[in-house]
Amino acid sequence: MFEYAPAPESRDVVDIKPSYGLFVNGEFVDGSGTAFKTINPASEEKLAEIAAASAADVDLAVQAARKAFTTWSAMPGAERAKYLFRIARIIQERSRELAVLESLDNGKPIRESRDVDLPLVAAHFFYYAGWADKLEYAGYGTRPIGVAGQVIPWNFPLLMLAWKIAPALACGNTVVLKPAETTPLTALLFAEICQQADLPPGVVNIVTGAGETGAAVVNHPDVDKVAFTGSTEVGRLIARSVAGTGKKVTLELGGKAANIVYEDAALDQAVEGIVNGIFFNQGHVCCAGSRLLVQESIAAELLDSLKRRLGTLRLGDPLDKNTDIGAINSAAQLAKIRELSDAGEQEGAERWSPACAIPDRGFWFPPTVFTGVAQSHRIAREEIFGPVLSVLTFRTPGEAVEKANNTPFGLSAGVWTEKASLMLWTADRLRAGVVWSNTFNRFDPASPFGGYKESGYGREGGRHGLEAYLAGSAPRESR
Ligand code: NAI
Ligand code: MG
Repeated sequence: MFEYAPAPESRDVVDIKPSYGLFVNGEFVDGSGTAFKTINPASEEKLAEIAAASAADVDLAVQAARKAFTTWSAMPGAERAKYLFRIARIIQERSRELAVLESLDNGKPIRESRDVDLPLVAAHFFYYAGWADKLEYAGYGTRPIGVAGQVIPWNFPLLMLAWKIAPALACGNTVVLKPAETTPLTALLFAEICQQADLPPGVVNIVTGAGETGAAVVNHPDVDKVAFTGSTEVGRLIARSVAGTGKKVTLELGGKAANIVYEDAALDQAVEGIVNGIFFNQGHVCCAGSRLLVQESIAAELLDSLKRRLGTLRLGDPLDKNTDIGAINSAAQLAKIRELSDAGEQEGAERWSPACAIPDRGFWFPPTVFTGVAQSHRIAREEIFGPVLSVLTFRTPGEAVEKANNTPFGLSAGVWTEKASLMLWTADRLRAGVVWSNTFNRFDPASPFGGYKESGYGREGGRHGLEAYLAGSAPRESR
């Protein structure tokens, strides 16, 4: 076993204020709800006091966005692009600061916030900046919708902000965005970046608060477009509340992805893919490969290698550059992971974790593997959203596909085989929005992302991601 000296990233690079207001019409203002605190989930230390937006505050933000829409939507695309390119460049310049802040507020390892989240955030702004003056070639018309109300979760706070804000602005919409209550800090730093980029007031408004604030954004009568990423339960509520209002909606909800490993796969690569699929970001990933489907003939060998590999993962301080597994984002999420894992044991699956010291303070859960899992078990059906892998076996490709599709979700899947014909045969039959071939959790702003069934509807990213923010509909064949 290796021992490393700690290599903590300095937090001096970020300046966290004791308290934050709402960002409305280009300025920070007080909220009239009851302020709340955000903590560092790795230490339970309070980071800052955050204003809560009431329905009246949300109304002011929507009014600001409505007013700004007139000039922003009339601006030539090439001019809007300049702002988006500027924002993208400032994100790159301040990426160390943003990465440290993300890891402090969310609990994710700095290695991931620095090397995955931040590069993708900047790439997303660059990508959609490039579309702003080329909308007529995308096939969805060039007319923006109006004011977008956007509600995002805590697992990729800044990345989900980028997925929502970049295409909305590129198409000429204005935005009222609500970050998750446990991770508001990078969205508020992004608000400062909007000021630094001289973005016209009201184009981006950030309202902080919990579910009630989110509901006020979604239900505001002057919001034209709703975009949500989060739980299937809240997604259902939102679908119901906007039904019949004429608001355009995209929902990106849960998942229970299968990672299918055929017997001819390159096993060491597959092991890396499995680890990346479920232990990246503590498994707080909607497209996480939470169900490993392994062909029976190689199951024992693969599990041995996987367990050996898991023994090398380092859990601990998210700001330590050696850390692979950071903190669970909140006490509530930890309780949910524990509850479902206990249910797995009670239902008869076998639980395994590597020897792994757990820090005294903060919220932690060791990497966990369940074998002997049946399709009927809760750990095979429900989204755990934690570092917990459920292993099932199969004998034939047909059985693999059937088991992979036997879920109410349909967001993503992974397939591991050296045979191109088997890869294509399998991918064709998987009911999942994204299928990764001999890789997992790979993202690119040019590639559309989204689900089937209870995983939601609409696509984010790529040319397809523009459709959600444009009012003109394209001729069917060009989609
Ligand atoms: P959540 O769906 O309650 O939270 C997501 C966002 O929605 C937050 O900003 C929250 O404040 C807001 N929200 C809550 N209630 C709302 C309402 N009635 N109207 C409008 N906005 C509302 O998810 P939560 O409780 O944080 O996590 C629960 C489970 O959801 C997780 O364990 C996980 O399984 C799943 N989840 C899935 C995500 C994904 O990326 N698809 C992200 C986060 C959670
Ligand atoms: Mg926090």
